[in-house]
This record gives sequence, structure tokens and C-alpha cells, in this order.
Amino acid sequence: VVDDWSWWTAGVWRTVTTVSRRRVLAALGVLTGAAAGGGAVGTLGLPRSGSVAPAVVPFAGTQQAGIVTPPQAHLCFAAFDVTAPTRSALVSLLRRWSDAAGQLTAGVLGPGDSPEADALPARLTVTFGFGPTLFDAGGVDRFGLRDRRPAPLLPVPPMPGDALDPDRSDGDLAVQACADDPVVARHAVRTLARLAGRDAVPRWRQTGFAAARNLFGYRDGTANPTSERDLDTHVWVGADDQPWMRAGSYLVVRRIRMLLEAWDRVPVDRQDAIVGRRRSTGARLPAPVDAHVRLAAPAGNGGARLLRRGYAYDDGLTPSGHADAGLFFLCFQRDPRRQFTAIQRRLAANDAMRGFVQHRASAVFACPGGVGPTGWVGEALFS
Ligand code: HEM
Repeated sequence: VVDDWSWWTAGVWRTVTTVSRRRVLAALGVLTGAAAGGGAVGTLGLPRSGSVAPAVVPFAGTQQAGIVTPPQAHLCFAAFDVTAPTRSALVSLLRRWSDAAGQLTAGVLGPGDSPEADALPARLTVTFGFGPTLFDAGGVDRFGLRDRRPAPLLPVPPMPGDALDPDRSDGDLAVQACADDPVVARHAVRTLARLAGRDAVPRWRQTGFAAARNLFGYRDGTANPTSERDLDTHVWVGADDQPWMRAGSYLVVRRIRMLLEAWDRVPVDRQDAIVGRRRSTGARLPAPVDAHVRLAAPAGNGGARLLRRGYAYDDGLTPSGHADAGLFFLCFQRDPRRQFTAIQRRLAANDAMRGFVQHRASAVFACPGGVGPTGWVGEALFS
């Protein structure tokens, strides 16, 4: 363990000329997590006053961070439309974004960063995804990628009760930034939007927060797959898909408004029956056939499971004065057709909760495998 490693960081930074800075930073990220009692790193590695060891989740790895990473407290999610005129401009954008994500997650930022960037890494993760339209935009193959579109990468088909807003749905590229500090997550998205320049424009954005209970008052996410075996079975893409998606995962996004005023008028024992769990403890109940957890459980869905990583959102009031709040549902899986779509089809038809929720936006993204220390996201897609 390096004693005064923040000083060391600054020294290394100045002397590094030929090695990728990001590679150095990725290594430092590991050190940062390990350095007991080390100081926090400020802009270009300078220590901050009163700092504590920052929590760094390395950007580089076999899989992208932000999928099985224990959920951070805050989310800033952004979808972009690609405006890059050529394939090489798109590649250059992905390289810039990967370099920046490596730096941001290590908590080391470049000159010219705005003052609020001077924050701890706060376990920041940046996860990238590619939407179906990147491969085929209404019959137009802008970047020569059509043959590489993975079969599972399809929009979720319309479901009963959907009230989707197209302006808040879909997108060519996705950036999921999660951190324990809301400003750090927002700053990451803002930095990437700035670096996109003329190659991508923001399409929609959503912030969210994690809490022990969702806005209906229930513990959420307890039945997620966690063992390596379950993750390989249900979350990570294997050899049966496009080779560039190996060790990647598919992300389905749904902005689900929760009708809180209606829910709050329902007695708690009825709420428990709708969810299929005890609100006070989260305990499983002998749930009715239309209870949410009963319909969503693997037993009724051919064994299909999801890694749910959603965040609550609260966007104030709708024009009619009702709470514009709910669950920004994010789930990772190997194949949305067999997983999210199959489960949601059952929920949309029969879930006792369906009268209290409304799906307002939808998007699907292919999140490729992780980025090597000198690589960039999606490298295998373009090679
Ligand atoms: C606002 C909407 C939703 C709310 C409030 C909600 C709430 C919950 C709660 C409280 C649980 C039990 C605790 C847990 O295991 O996490 C649960 C379980 C689950 N939910 Fe949802 N959920 C919502 C939407 C969805 C959607 C859209 C899907 C997928 C299509 C889904 C799939 C699941 C699954 C797979 C489980 C675990 C079932 C099991 O393995 O036992 N949920 N949900």
C-alpha cells in the first residue's frame, strides 16, 4: 500500500506521457480502494482537505461495472441519439467516452472540469448500452452494423395498459451513471454529453434515488439472482449470441408511474395481498394467484429471472396535480424476449398491481462486455 499515494498520483500523472492515462488511472482506482487511510484524490490527483478514502469501482473489467455492483444511492440515466456522420466518428465518440468514464470513476478529472466535479468518486459506475436503432434506424444502416445486431435486441412489444411517451423512450446510446453522491452521477452524464460534441445529442434523461423501500412502502430487489451460477444463467450473455456481446447483458428500461394517491387509499392487508409480501417485514405470504410476486416469480415463467436494479423517481406533479413519481425500472438479463417481455406479458394481463401502475416509457439496450485497461466500450462490435 502506498502511504502518501495522492502525492504519488500527481507525480505519476505528470511523468506519464506515452502510456494511456486511463490505464494508469484504472490501476490507481484499484489502489484507491485498497489504500487504508489514504487521502482522497482531487483534480489531477491533488489531495483534498479533510478527505477520506474514496470508494472506487474500477471501470475496467471483464464485465461492465454498474450491473452486479451493489446499487449506489443515486442514478442519472441518459439516452442519446447519435448524430455522428460516419462510423469512424462514432468509434471516436466511444473512445472519448471510455477514456472519460475511466477518469471519472477513478475520481481524477481533467483541467477545465467544473467545480462540482471536485467530489469523491462515490462508487461511481458508468455503464454503456447500444439501442436497436444504432443497428437499423427505420431500414437505414447508418454505421454498417446491421449484420451485427443481436437477435434479442428488439423493442419491447406493446403491452396492455402501456401509455408510452416516445420522447422519453428508446435511444441509440445509453449511459447509466450510478453513485452514492447525486452530483457525481449527474456530473458524469454532463461530462459525457459535453464530450459527445456534435456526434450525439441528448434524447431523454432520468434521475432516481435508491431507498430501502419503494414508493408503495415495500422492500424491493430481495429476490434478485446473486450467485455466479445464477448470474451466468440469467444475466451474462454466453456463447449463443453475437460474439461481441459475450460477458455483456441486455438492459430493459421502463419508467413506471405509481399511482400513489390511489394506492394510499387501499388498506394495508389488501396491499399485502396485491404485492404478495408483508409490507412491515418483506416476508413472503401465501399469495393469491394474481399477486405481483406470484406472477413474476420464476415458477410461473419457465424459470426466467431478472436482475432488477431500479431506482425510485419523484418528478413533482403531473399537469393535473397528481404525483409524477414511481419506479424507474432497470433490469439486466440474457435475453429480454424470454425474460422481461415474457414476465411483463403476464403482469400486464393479470397483476393485481396493474391498476396502480402505468408504464410511461420503454427502452432496450445491449450492454457489451467489459472494457480492458486500454480498450474502449464496444470495441469488439467494430472490429
Ligand atoms: C412499479 C412497479 C413495480 C413495483 C412497485 C414492484 C414491486 C415488487 C416487490 C415489492 C417485489 C417483492 C420484493 C422483491 O423480490 O424484490 C417484487 C418482486 C419482483 N418483481 Fe416487481 N415491481 C414492479 C414492477 C415489476 C416489473 C415491471 C417486473 C418485470 C416485468 C417485475 C418483476 C419482479 C420480479 C421478477 C420479482 C421477483 C419475484 C420472485 O422471484 O419472487 N416487477 N416487485
